[in-house]
Amino acid sequence: MTVERVALRVGEDESVIWLGRGLLEQAADRLVSPSGRFLLVSSRSARPATDRLRPVLASSLILDVEIEDSEQEKTLDAVSEIADRALEKGVRRDDAFVAVGGGVVTDLVGFAAAILLRGVAWNAVPTTVAGMADAAIGGKTGVDHRLGKNLLGAFHFPRSIVVDPSAAATLSDRDYRSGLVEAFKGVWIRNAKASARAETLLPAIRSRDEEALLELVSDAVRIKADIVSSDPKESGERRLLNFGHTLGHAFEAAGGYRELRHGEAVAWGISAALTISRDRAGLSEDEAARVREVLARLGPFPEPVRSAEVLRPLLSRDKKRSASGLAGVLLEEIGRARVEENVPEAEWLAAAAHARLPPALQTRSNPT
Ligand code: GLY
Repeated sequence: MTVERVALRVGEDESVIWLGRGLLEQAADRLVSPSGRFLLVSSRSARPATDRLRPVLASSLILDVEIEDSEQEKTLDAVSEIADRALEKGVRRDDAFVAVGGGVVTDLVGFAAAILLRGVAWNAVPTTVAGMADAAIGGKTGVDHRLGKNLLGAFHFPRSIVVDPSAAATLSDRDYRSGLVEAFKGVWIRNAKASARAETLLPAIRSRDEEALLELVSDAVRIKADIVSSDPKESGERRLLNFGHTLGHAFEAAGGYRELRHGEAVAWGISAALTISRDRAGLSEDEAARVREVLARLGPFPEPVRSAEVLRPLLSRDKKRSASGLAGVLLEEIGRARVEENVPEAEWLAAAAHARLPPALQTRSNPT
């Protein structure tokens, strides 16, 4: 088995990402706990992966709990519940969590680890494509607040992240495809060659070839590790990773976090950002069409709510807001993005109203 090691450096510390097919069964030497004791928190939907991992941790487990993996469950109450269970088991500062699941689980467990006993170590084993390519990497942890997504949180980097593409085998087709949007986002903002490679691999990726998926995820992870190493707390370059997220978050909230998967909302957000990129950042029609075509081939995605009345209050609560508009990430060309400050709200709303993906391709495959 080929295993790739990618190091994300944060000051003196390292957050190490291991990538390989079949790595779950070989995770013992790669998960880190200073005491040698682990607290396993996994999602119900990740049970097949957890069943593969549990024997590896066996006698070093002091806690083994399952939690829900839906955005509605990403609350302070859920963090408090994890802390209760860990404290009841006598968790110590030198123990470490292992989070197995999608972005909700890694966000929750990472945040619990950040605040429990003023900080214990944690490891991530992402089982969704979005988790492998984005959410589990880079130390953002936290929960939602009734006034918005991810409003409470902390940067707390996992010591180790084990990425095994075979963990994604049990995902529904819809979850799998929507997660791919975050992986493509990574290559679009930073690496034209990786983007072209991913386009070539797309038929294999869509038919769930694990080697092809691993190639794309590995490119996205290396790009993200590089960006986060240079800007761990998102004061500059890391903001590029928010491509598609200004409207994406609003679309997701407008659907009550039920109608659209995160990646689907980001796909529509990217489609809208391409229009603004053409007007403000010189993105060519051809390149905008190429990105839209990939998104359409990842779809079909349910339509977002586009009404200005619904989206305006959601945009007004965005963390990226300033007095004169909202920051967004624009694509200058495939492989090069920049942050544009203060794009007027009216421009976002107009782009939201007209965001489109190629219709012929939208109906080519069946939604599941
Ligand atoms: N998901 C974007 C970031 O981690 O910065």
